[in-house]
Amino acid sequence: MSKTICLLPGDGIGTEIIAQGRKALEAVARRTGTELVFTEALIGGAAYDATGTPLPRETVDACKASDAVFLGAVGGPKWDALSPDKRPEKGILGIRKELGLFANLRPALLLPELAGACLLKPATAQKGLDLIVVRELTGDIYFGQPRGIEVRDGQRTGFNTMLYSEEEIRRIAIVAFETAMKRKKRVCSIDKSNVLETSRLWREIVTTVHKDYPEVELSHMYVDNAAMQLVRDPSQFDVLLTGNIFGDILSDEAAAITGSLGMLPSASMGQSAPALFEPIHGSAPDIAGQDKANPLATILSAAMLLRLGLDMPTEADLIEKAVSRALAEYRTGDIMEEGKTLVGCEKMGDVVAELIATM
Ligand code: IPM
Ligand code: MG
Repeated sequence: MSKTICLLPGDGIGTEIIAQGRKALEAVARRTGTELVFTEALIGGAAYDATGTPLPRETVDACKASDAVFLGAVGGPKWDALSPDKRPEKGILGIRKELGLFANLRPALLLPELAGACLLKPATAQKGLDLIVVRELTGDIYFGQPRGIEVRDGQRTGFNTMLYSEEEIRRIAIVAFETAMKRKKRVCSIDKSNVLETSRLWREIVTTVHKDYPEVELSHMYVDNAAMQLVRDPSQFDVLLTGNIFGDILSDEAAAITGSLGMLPSASMGQSAPALFEPIHGSAPDIAGQDKANPLATILSAAMLLRLGLDMPTEADLIEKAVSRALAEYRTGDIMEEGKTLVGCEKMGDVVAELIATM
């Protein structure tokens, strides 16, 4: 049976990296006799330029008609002056909401091949880094109403609302505990319950949901402490359960300490298909169009797409093995080390596709 994947390349390096991700998927399809059909739609600044909106209706329809969505990146200085509802970021926030993608899974893994790139002290890095941020993605201060900028007491005043309902907390907590059951069975829930009511409710509901998962060890941590612990000793974490804004910040931090923002994939899932898969890095406008981007986060997102989006774990393994093999010899500029061969985005994609075909 054929599966449809909707490609949303977006802006900046988005087009270059999605082309490599597609190559990997096509190589897998050829190797395993799977039929993959690709559709493509506009999002972000590219969509705004062509249609006047960062998320055209046709894009939402194309995504909904697919089995999985594969996104590059959005945004760039060209669109920075636009009003909030026209900005490229609105495209990505909008598609998350439209598809009900409330659960964002962001694994941060220090591959042995890349230990040299890790920003941590060798003694800390040696303890290992293999965690996953389970971030709530359709609520919190990102979407809470009221929001705006208005004049109060003669001053322009900006305001946003941090907001979570019990049900929103419950469903993401379930995802975190289920994820932990397949890993080291430890969940650390992040909040700011010493200050915020939203966080007090968060902690209460997470503690209640935990009763259904007696095998999982649950701890709670304030977000400021978590930011510190992540650089001090990330090996203490298995699953980090967070709200939208804390997860946005902590997942970049978790990715950066691995030394290779260009390596980390993500999945955004809802109650039903399609889910959306994307690298966690941005559109990198400074290197766009120069064949310098690292496509591996996107290629690893393709592996997540196969595993979580299309229930094809063996095929996903194939991609991940090919990436490890490729790293043994080839590197893009961001992860270059002595003794390796420096390659561009396209060549890295070719190497991985070739390995998938021949391994
Ligand atoms: C991310 C990004 C997005 C977010 C932006 C592009 C809206 O930073 O996926 O982490 O804040 O969620
Ligand atoms: Mg972010």
